[in-house]
Amino acid sequence: MILIIDFGSQYNQLIARRVRELNIYCQIEPPTISLAKIKELSPEAIILSGGPASVYQKNAPRCDERIFELGIPILGICYGMQFMVHTLGGHVKRSRKREYGFANLNIGKRDTLFRGIAKTTSCWMSHGDSCTRLPKGFKKIARTPNAPIAALEDAKRSFYGVQFHPEVAHTPCGKDMLRNFLFRIAHTKPRWNMKSFIHESIREIRDTVGNGKVVLGLSGGVDSSVAAVLLNRAIGKRLVCIFVDNGLLRKDEAKKVENLFRKNFKLNLKVIDAAERFLKKLRNVTDPEKKRKIIGGEFIKVFEKEAKKIGGIKFLAQGTLYPDLIESKSAFGGPTAVIKTHHNVGGLPKRMKLKLVEPLKHLFKDEVRKLGKELGMPDEVVWRQPFPGPGLAVRIIGAITKERLDILREVDARLIEEIKKAGFYHKLWQSFTVLLPVKSVGIMGDERTYENVAAIRAVTSQDAMTADWARLPHELLAKVSNRIINEVRGVNRVVYDISSKPPSTIEWE
Ligand code: XMP
Repeated sequence: MILIIDFGSQYNQLIARRVRELNIYCQIEPPTISLAKIKELSPEAIILSGGPASVYQKNAPRCDERIFELGIPILGICYGMQFMVHTLGGHVKRSRKREYGFANLNIGKRDTLFRGIAKTTSCWMSHGDSCTRLPKGFKKIARTPNAPIAALEDAKRSFYGVQFHPEVAHTPCGKDMLRNFLFRIAHTKPRWNMKSFIHESIREIRDTVGNGKVVLGLSGGVDSSVAAVLLNRAIGKRLVCIFVDNGLLRKDEAKKVENLFRKNFKLNLKVIDAAERFLKKLRNVTDPEKKRKIIGGEFIKVFEKEAKKIGGIKFLAQGTLYPDLIESKSAFGGPTAVIKTHHNVGGLPKRMKLKLVEPLKHLFKDEVRKLGKELGMPDEVVWRQPFPGPGLAVRIIGAITKERLDILREVDARLIEEIKKAGFYHKLWQSFTVLLPVKSVGIMGDERTYENVAAIRAVTSQDAMTADWARLPHELLAKVSNRIINEVRGVNRVVYDISSKPPSTIEWE
């Protein structure tokens, strides 16, 4: 494995991505990681990441300096390089001015880190301080107009440093540099792939769980579904999946989940029909946050009751992903794990005294999709668009009734069908419909109608932090609108939401 020490750069997850794309397993750890833990991990190489600090700051992040005595190849990136230079006796010049953007990289030595790369290429800079004197044993191997020492090496000890960021796409040959470091300098082998991951994690799950029973809240979303199938492979029927039908799901959703997971994957699955209970609690509630609280609270109660009925459960499995885990560990050593509250089971482990099992906690989203494919899961699950825990409750503006839920289910099913038919489903982050608390006048045949308005929401996004409304073809929108108005009783007008996030949000509530 490769150890990445996190000095706080916004690009750190990208370093991990690049290393994994080269089929090598890596882990990001805070600088507070102990030397003993590093030895235990036994990395084949260490990458010191970038970060916003200056080595001269009083509270600048530092890792145990004895890593330089372990005989392990080390690559320092940006702050990581400055930390290396400063620690090993070179000089880093303090600067208040930041260099940010593209720079021309002139390579002086092309047989190690820069093997196979053109003499001049471009690189992405984002730094203040820079290296002005090399530590003993080092040579400079590249420069830019603003950074005379843009890259350095101590080939004997296999220590390398780059002032720029090889992990970002703006450094076009960056991946070749990382490849050279990992394969030619550190002599690692590309062993990490989904097959080996499955093999390893099954062993790990069995070690952790022993003869114990595990409970998992299956939502039908990608993460919990993949976690469920993986755990099922590891411990079979000792995994009990609970799917709570809260009555706020899309058309035929509970049935589909049940069919797929019970029949195809032979999961030990309990489907709990709790619709009535949720709808009763939600009667006349219009405030979005109140809706969320009620739904979250009810979910916990239902889940706990069912888990108790099973009895003898020691573990709760969750589909926590790597980005959640990394975000919870700050560069300065924060808490080590966070429980995803939007899986609606945030308070559960403590309440029920359960230990957590999180088999996906070292994977990125696209790796989870690959894992799902490798486990034989259909595209329909692996490429499913996100769906919020509170379900259709936050897509019916105003009070929720069974009738309005049924209308929205029919409306939504038509949108999704047409979006899929037109090949847009995978291109969109989300596409759904919202039922508005507005009635408008229409004409159907010779009759005047006075019915509901439905809004279509379709957005593109990378991570839901920002989103843009999708420029769907007018013909597609026309088709969807026609079908909804002609086929769904209770809706006589369809509008398209053309707001971006920010300042709007993706969901309407
Ligand atoms: P917003 O509306 O905040 O949504 O732009 C961002 C993403 O989060 C989803 N979302 C939720 N997911 N529980 C969830 O599990 C929630 O309460 C919730 N609210 C929003 C939303 O669908 C989008 O993908």
